Amino acid sequence: MNLDQQANGQKFFHTITFGCQMNLNDSERLAGQLRTLGYEASDEVEQATVILINTCCVRESAEKKIYGKIGEMKRLKLINPNIIIGVVGCMAQKDKEKIFKKYPHIDLVMGTHNTHQLVELIQKIETSRERVLAVWDQAERLAPDVPTVRKSKISAWVPIMYGCNNFCTYCIVPYVRGRERSRTLESIVAEIKQLGEDGFKEITLLGQNVNSYGKDLEENVDFADLLQAVDQIESIARIRYMTSHPRDMNRKVIDTIKNSKRICEHFHLPVQAGNNAILERMNRGYTTEYYLQLVADIRAAVPGASITTDLIMGFPGETEEQFLETLEFIKHVRYDAAYTFLYSQRSGTPAAQYEGQLPLTTKKLRLNQLMDVQNEISLEINKQLEDTVVEVLVEGPSKNDEMTFMGRTRTNKIVLWEKKGVEKSGDLVNIQIDKAQTWVLKGRLL
Ligand code: SAH
Ligand code: SF4
Ligand code: F3S
Repeated sequence: MNLDQQANGQKFFHTITFGCQMNLNDSERLAGQLRTLGYEASDEVEQATVILINTCCVRESAEKKIYGKIGEMKRLKLINPNIIIGVVGCMAQKDKEKIFKKYPHIDLVMGTHNTHQLVELIQKIETSRERVLAVWDQAERLAPDVPTVRKSKISAWVPIMYGCNNFCTYCIVPYVRGRERSRTLESIVAEIKQLGEDGFKEITLLGQNVNSYGKDLEENVDFADLLQAVDQIESIARIRYMTSHPRDMNRKVIDTIKNSKRICEHFHLPVQAGNNAILERMNRGYTTEYYLQLVADIRAAVPGASITTDLIMGFPGETEEQFLETLEFIKHVRYDAAYTFLYSQRSGTPAAQYEGQLPLTTKKLRLNQLMDVQNEISLEINKQLEDTVVEVLVEGPSKNDEMTFMGRTRTNKIVLWEKKGVEKSGDLVNIQIDKAQTWVLKGRLL
């Protein structure tokens, strides 16, 4: 520990976050609450006296990693029994007592509906030194707002709704995040205006299914209305949103994006599978024909838009023929990029009970075939950008190299270039693309 800091009594916390953007944003809210208790963030876990593991349980692979991490923490507790270690978020919501009983070195298990209680729970542990299990089964309609300490200075996540009502048959999220709860339009707009005044340039509206925004509100507002309102906020350069459910994406939203200034030309539309029988058993609520029409509408209305997707390989009962249909489907759509997952059996979900669970080898084989096809398509699409100039929002130095800068196009493609020294995080710059790869574009600052 740094002696100066120890001497002035500064307390530190450290968060380890798994899972989706919603979880990353939740961690920023955990950080905001810990700051009100006098803790500052530290990148070094050894320096922290409060350590929070914010967990995900969407796939078994994530859970395995997290349980490994929880085990590792025992070492730190042995060195300093006074530290507070917490397991929070989706896996804590699901496995609550199991974690609490099995890991006596964990002081706090806090579920997704209790996030706003962190201050009071930490205070309770600090004073009583008792372990605390705080997992509500259900959410209050909307949890009270808590302070946020954001990692980025230019790009901010803004949740517009919590929870999910869709119950796709493979998915655990509705069970651990509860029913859909929308924030009011006024509170979202107010938060974004403030972010604009604070210098943020890019906003990502977050929800498990943003297209059903507002359905639970008394006021008569929908996602398109929200987009229109946010598009008026002049201090913000770019607006993104995720995730869209194809079933609920509609003409009004597409037209709003078409007529907007700030909403980026990127559509992330998770299709999950390219076969109607599988889609039906997934309870996705659309057909491949409907989805293709949606893609055609988007491409007609917003030329140059990028379209990306999520796909699950090896859903129970998926035949070789059905898999080949999905391959044909992605060749037909020609996605800019696809995020591909091996089906993971989640106990408590309907699909976990379905017959025809496939062996890992089959799932992996299909995933690899799918990725080969998609990678080729992504590269072909990106190659069309070679020798063109794209507008990039500068994020900063790339992860591995201080001299290489990184940013994104409006279509959400990652661009790398050699640092010139004039570009700053948050600037909009023009980059000449020299070389396109599957996942990145490389170019020069103009
Ligand atoms: N609400 C969002 C994100 C859900 S989780 C949406 O509906 O798109 C992100 C992705 O994880 C999903 O799109 C899906 O492709 C994948 N996923 C969810 N459950 C899964 C499971 N049991 N096995 C494998 N992938 C899964
Ligand atoms: Fe899961 Fe489906 Fe809800 Fe997405 S829409 S979180 S995949 S249940
Ligand atoms: Fe996100 Fe994982 Fe929870 S994907 S909502 S952190 S289960």
